[in-house]
Amino acid sequence: MAAANVNLVAVRDVESLRRRIQGWRREGRTVALVPTMGALHKGHVTLMERAKKMADRVVATIFVNPKQFGPSEDFSAYPRRENQDFEMLNGAGVHLLFAPDVGAMYPPNFATSIRMSGIGEILDGAHRPGHFDGVATVVAKLLLQALPDIALFGEKDYQQLVLIRRLVADLNIPVDIIGVETVREADGLALSSRNAYLTANERAKAPALYAAITTAAKAIAQGENIAAAVSSARENILASGFSSVDYVDARHAETLAPLGSNAEPGRVLVAAHLGRARLIDNAAVPRG
Ligand code: PAF
Repeated sequence: MAAANVNLVAVRDVESLRRRIQGWRREGRTVALVPTMGALHKGHVTLMERAKKMADRVVATIFVNPKQFGPSEDFSAYPRRENQDFEMLNGAGVHLLFAPDVGAMYPPNFATSIRMSGIGEILDGAHRPGHFDGVATVVAKLLLQALPDIALFGEKDYQQLVLIRRLVADLNIPVDIIGVETVREADGLALSSRNAYLTANERAKAPALYAAITTAAKAIAQGENIAAAVSSARENILASGFSSVDYVDARHAETLAPLGSNAEPGRVLVAAHLGRARLIDNAAVPRG
């Protein structure tokens, strides 16, 4: 990656973040925010690059948010590589890193939680109770701390993206939410920090997930019965060596309501377990 001619500055408290951003605002510059949980990969770099094209200044955040992990989930094991992440962000020409610790985000007596009913309780929300409330709470905080013009999120976490659009509309947070297409390995596996959990043997099986949902998405586009297409995808995923499928479903791409027909914009979404990893992915139903 070409070295960028800016030097990344890291701040850990909200006051310093706001001071820097206010300085840019006074100079008339636009600001993009890219929230992450670190353990950065090429998918994140793509978000940063898109942000740089769309705004004068790019602020990345790294915060492994305890509120979006369930009690039996991988919060403490979640990969943390701050030095490597810093170099990656610097190389990508990001201007500011906001990396608060848990105490700065959730000081003692912190009492507020945003509950995302409906859209936060289906699919991943049904399998990870409270997960999307944690996401919504931290994303609302980050948006209000930075007050950017735009904020970018990957389509890999498709339900999260739809939910964040709902959140900012519901709370009138003045920011444009930009979804950025998933970056994939050559064999189709979506880049994810959790791919680090895969053994070599599991890594070889992992691309079957995307293959199964793209096959289902194409079949739906061609008029196959939606339930039958989804059910074949589930069988293919299990036959490929995944131990279980949390869900695989075809949904309306904007509302995540069950897909009524292939005349609506559709998305096939999946979560499945392979070894220690729980992988999620999604594919658009192609339009004729
Ligand atoms: O997608 C993620 O990495 C996280 O869910 C986010 C949006 C940074 C909130 O913690």
